[in-house]
Amino acid sequence: MRGRLGILLSGRGSNFEAIADHIERGELDAQIAVVISNASQAPGLEKARQRGLEAIFIGSKGLSREEFDRRLVSTLKEEQVDLVCLAGFMRLLSSYFIKSFPHRILNIHPSLLPSFPGLNAQQQALEHGVKYTGCTVHFVDEGLDSGPIILQAVVPVLDNDTEQTLSARILAEEHEIYSRAIQLVLDNQTRVEGRRVLRVATTECT
Ligand code: GAR
Repeated sequence: MRGRLGILLSGRGSNFEAIADHIERGELDAQIAVVISNASQAPGLEKARQRGLEAIFIGSKGLSREEFDRRLVSTLKEEQVDLVCLAGFMRLLSSYFIKSFPHRILNIHPSLLPSFPGLNAQQQALEHGVKYTGCTVHFVDEGLDSGPIILQAVVPVLDNDTEQTLSARILAEEHEIYSRAIQLVLDNQTRVEGRRVLRVATTECT
């Protein structure tokens, strides 16, 4: 059966759309079981509905982090999700959530981690003056953008870059590597050893 994805987002949802496009084009063997947002007005939620997908708002107002996460986890379990994909989901997850999906939560971040975690990663890269930045797909742990790294893509920083131009070039790479990382994990092609995510050696069938 095709792997069932639960997508969590807080904003425009371009990474979600890229994943959905890869699936539609047959380039990612998966299905989107549910899209959940903590922001009722997130454009990504509306885009999911337009594609005929289950799209749910779960509000966090008045709830502790763990209470909110319990609601998320129970919805994701009801939907029998195999993999949780954070796609611009701007909340830290509680240990309850992390333990509910061990090595089954992925995040995309717009820098070459561990450089520039947190908000405005592209602006942080510009201000620091690095010549190369990029994006990272990683397993989620309890820290901020700190879990074991699955895939990265490198993007050069140009002299005339603004936050907008740099972000756009990074985003194009995000849209490619996220689906590739999802496929690797769904196909059990990765093995986590400490901080390292190693590729499982494939044995050739004759
Ligand atoms: C993306 O650039 C993603 O890497 C970033 O938020 C943006 C969401 O865009 N995530 C983080 O910074 C996580 N720390 P999108 O809603 O268009 O996918």
